[in-house]
Amino acid sequence: MSELSRIGVAIDSDLLGKFDELIEKRGYTNRSEAFRDLIRDRLVHQDWESPDRQVVGTVTLVYDHHVRMLSEKLTDLQHDFHRSILSTLHVHLDHDNCLEVLVVRGKAAVVKKISDALISTKGVKHGQLTITTSGAGLA
Ligand code: NI
Repeated sequence: MSELSRIGVAIDSDLLGKFDELIEKRGYTNRSEAFRDLIRDRLVHQDWESPDRQVVGTVTLVYDHHVRMLSEKLTDLQHDFHRSILSTLHVHLDHDNCLEVLVVRGKAAVVKKISDALISTKGVKHGQLTITTSGAGLA
């Protein structure tokens, strides 16, 4: 970790009031950590905008495993990209519905491609890519 720098920020009082309300609801005990998290989140998003940047994320899928060939299609897709899919969690939510969470790592463009292919597969009820980071290079 590099040394700490202290900065003064001029900010509109109403805006600061809203920020304080927001961070209190989220459980922050001080503004500094909330500011740092905002900055880190922006930096992580910026990484994902560079197609060749190495990124980490999760893809969440909910689908009905009774839909014809759907489980096979999703499995085939995952095998096509096996190098980028580190782990898969499968939960049988009820008689019909399955939840899968895939941990994905690779170039941003590839990870987005995997996510889009899985989520857009016919029969997937809901899908979401969550972007995050390996944490390397992020203080
Ligand atoms: Ni299942």
